[in-house]
Amino acid sequence: MEAIAISPREKVSRIVERPEPEIRSADEIKISVIEVGVCATDREEVLGGKALAPKGVNELVIGHEMFGVVADTGDGVRHIKPGDYGVFTVRRGCSRCAPCRMERPDMCRTGEYSERGIRGMDGFQTGFVVDSEKYFVPVPGDLSGTGVLTEPLSVAEKAISECLRLQSIRLPEYSPDWLAGKRCLVAGLGPIGLLAALVLTLRGGAVCGLDIVEPGSPKTEWLSTIGGKYIDGKICRPENIDEYVGEFDLVFEATGIPSLGFELIDALGINGIYVLTGIPGDEHAIHIPGSELMRKIVLRNQIIFGSVNASREHFQMAVQDLGEADRRWNGHAARLITGRYHFQNYLEPLMNQDAEKIKSVIEWTQ
Ligand code: BGC
Repeated sequence: MEAIAISPREKVSRIVERPEPEIRSADEIKISVIEVGVCATDREEVLGGKALAPKGVNELVIGHEMFGVVADTGDGVRHIKPGDYGVFTVRRGCSRCAPCRMERPDMCRTGEYSERGIRGMDGFQTGFVVDSEKYFVPVPGDLSGTGVLTEPLSVAEKAISECLRLQSIRLPEYSPDWLAGKRCLVAGLGPIGLLAALVLTLRGGAVCGLDIVEPGSPKTEWLSTIGGKYIDGKICRPENIDEYVGEFDLVFEATGIPSLGFELIDALGINGIYVLTGIPGDEHAIHIPGSELMRKIVLRNQIIFGSVNASREHFQMAVQDLGEADRRWNGHAARLITGRYHFQNYLEPLMNQDAEKIKSVIEWTQ
């Protein structure tokens, strides 16, 4: 079977031959991969950025946003059968810390976790993959057109549900659906930003999206179909957003641009919450107005926090919301996928990031 592999920290990628994996224990599931999404992490890996090969080798099969169909199951798997659709989650715990022992490797304390396709474990850009049932999340067949969005959506689900949990705990005057009618700003209209806009809208938030693409581009059109308003960052500078459009109760950062990340604190209102999800590469240090920011955060009771990866529960929330989105905007979520490529043409979506495109996926169907 073929697979897309890189040598970590080198700017090379290639299609390699790998033996087809077999089920070796009763709890395992073998998936025939249908398609795998490409994100900024994959692009960074192919360009020699962060990635770690499995122990003892210097080659890593990439890909972590997978979707496939069950080909076979171990004897102990009761509720999943061949023909079912689904995804495997990404992170595998260190098995030493409390979060990992409680199946929350997304909150691993030791930092010794692995991630399929990113850190120490081969990923999903290949024909077949095998893993334990506990990492499998079923996706109903009628969502097969958007199942590949489950992983990026799970990242947005975790960040947003943490915001809601924190706010409903510390602001007792608010009801559990804290988001209803709240002003939300999403910075960066890539797949994670647009999926965050989708979740925030489904939960009742009033969403604005900030980017520097042309108004009328596929990203802004996608946002406006779900009722989001576009803020053109070329016209409205981030530090002036509060003056132009007012302050926000929730800010979701999905750009990975450190200067912007700090400037956006300006747009956060009293008792507001701000979640950072972008992961910057190595860049030059930036200067920030420390006293002003610290004063503002303290005097306005603001929370600023980071969120990475997602638990199995967040993947399940993602599947539910893909269904919900389909009922509300009939087929609109699928329009996030703006390019599908045969795996032999993998370099195109990995090397040429077209600003007009939203999500590219690589197809593996046999
Ligand atoms: C993935 C996450 C992962 C993170 C850090 C992201 O691209 O979606 O699952 O935890 O990279 O490696």
